[in-house]
Amino acid sequence: AVAAAVVPAAGRGERLGPGAPKALRELGGVPLLVHAVRALARSRAVGLVVVAAPPEGVPEVGALLDSHGLDGKDIRVVAGGATRQESVRLGLAAIPAEVEIVLVHDAARPLVPVDVVDAVVAAVRSGADAVVPAVPLADTVKRVVPQAGGRPEPVVETPERATLRAVQTPQGFRRAVLCEVHEKALAEEASAGQAEGALPPVTDDAGLVERFGGQVVVVPGHEEAFKVTRPLDLVLAEAVLARRRA
Ligand code: CTP
Ligand code: MG
Repeated sequence: AVAAAVVPAAGRGERLGPGAPKALRELGGVPLLVHAVRALARSRAVGLVVVAAPPEGVPEVGALLDSHGLDGKDIRVVAGGATRQESVRLGLAAIPAEVEIVLVHDAARPLVPVDVVDAVVAAVRSGADAVVPAVPLADTVKRVVPQAGGRPEPVVETPERATLRAVQTPQGFRRAVLCEVHEKALAEEASAGQAEGALPPVTDDAGLVERFGGQVVVVPGHEEAFKVTRPLDLVLAEAVLARRRA
């Protein structure tokens, strides 16, 4: 079965600093989004890519992707939303009903190797409901009680580093599972509003599957699948790209 991919690309990229929306910022002269879509299109398993663009930028993003001729793959652009979760939901709605495997890949991870994409699809094909690529952590991680005004933060605990993984994308799902958890999350938000005691924000799609009791499995990710978040990440991405082109 051929897989489809949703690429949330509607974020502003505030942590990257002033400039164009992050997905349109350039790496090696090419927008991050184009790199990310190419990385997916390189996989034989991926037949369709749906990009969730900034709502005011849909025509521009469509023209941009057209101008970069992406291996004859079916590329569609829809308007994204106010949160990553909403952007993914809007992208999912544009995927034809017969597609059984869906990937979700951040536009901000332009350099993911195709082997990671293929490994995620393979794990879903082998029967997993939800698959995330991930890598071991270099840093020790501590849970703290956040404090206002830069005051020192008390440490609550230090989870054993060997059991922790930093999660990347593309994350892969049985389509029905991903659609169901997104619908449930939407219904929950509608009933809870932004009320106190609301559930903590979920920062990835697999997290929604976990919230509603599904099983998520991890496959090996890759150091080059890092997310471009802060200015230093763009420096690293330029260096990785230069090394690839050498
Ligand atoms: N994203 C999206 N719609 C939003 C917010 C984020 O599609 N409303 C996408 C981003 O475009 C990005 C991915 O989700 O490809 C991961 O989010 P992140 O790295 O946080 O990007 P931004 O939200 O753009 O950055 P920041 O949080 O620094 O503003
Ligand atoms: Mg963000």
